[in-house]
Amino acid sequence: MLKVAPSILAADMLNMERDVQRMIDAGTDWLHVDIMDAHFVPNLSYSPALVEALHVRFPALPLDVHLMMDNPEKYIDVFCDAGASVLTIHAEIGGDVAALLRRIRARGVMAGLSVKPGTPAEAIRHLLPEADMVLVMTVEPGFGGQKFNADMLGKLDDLRKMGYTGLLEADGGVSMKNIADLRAHGLDVAVMGTAMLRSQTPAEDMTSIHALA
Ligand code: DX5
Ligand code: ZN
Repeated sequence: MLKVAPSILAADMLNMERDVQRMIDAGTDWLHVDIMDAHFVPNLSYSPALVEALHVRFPALPLDVHLMMDNPEKYIDVFCDAGASVLTIHAEIGGDVAALLRRIRARGVMAGLSVKPGTPAEAIRHLLPEADMVLVMTVEPGFGGQKFNADMLGKLDDLRKMGYTGLLEADGGVSMKNIADLRAHGLDVAVMGTAMLRSQTPAEDMTSIHALA
């Protein structure tokens, strides 16, 4: 079943608890939390304290934490301790990405590996055995509400052709308009910020996403 991970970047910051509860009531699978450092991406968002607060308030909700930051090694344990269920780092950070993925796994947390639109699947071939999930960015990371890049559907195909059997997640501009296409290309987890947080009918939307073959 295709999972939904609403991105709380699109939540009303002063009504975070209400908006997350609304997603839970609508039947969400995961919650996507974007961490931005104003360096790897030109924006700044959230911290481990929010992840911890969410985990304490909603202990049954898997938190899918997307680290858009340089030097994530300093924060892997911090986010694992805070309650992340999935912790995703970017392939473009350089250094020993494989070792970081192994560190995440060693904490009993699912290790995610993200690629920006300009990074081809081939560039992460050697890292695939270390990744429980590959997050394919379908916009340039940094901001919600951008237009979906349909060229990235081919990257999902490329990863499967390379024999990758882990989870595939897409993030950026995902909506009810492109979700069936994404599923047809093997998507397992749909991050949806604007499209789900601002939907008037989130329960219906999630039901139809869950019904996709
Ligand atoms: C963008 C973030 C996304 C963002 C998606 O860099 O990684 O998770 O919240 O927002 P939408 O779904 O509005 O494109
Ligand atoms: Zn994200």
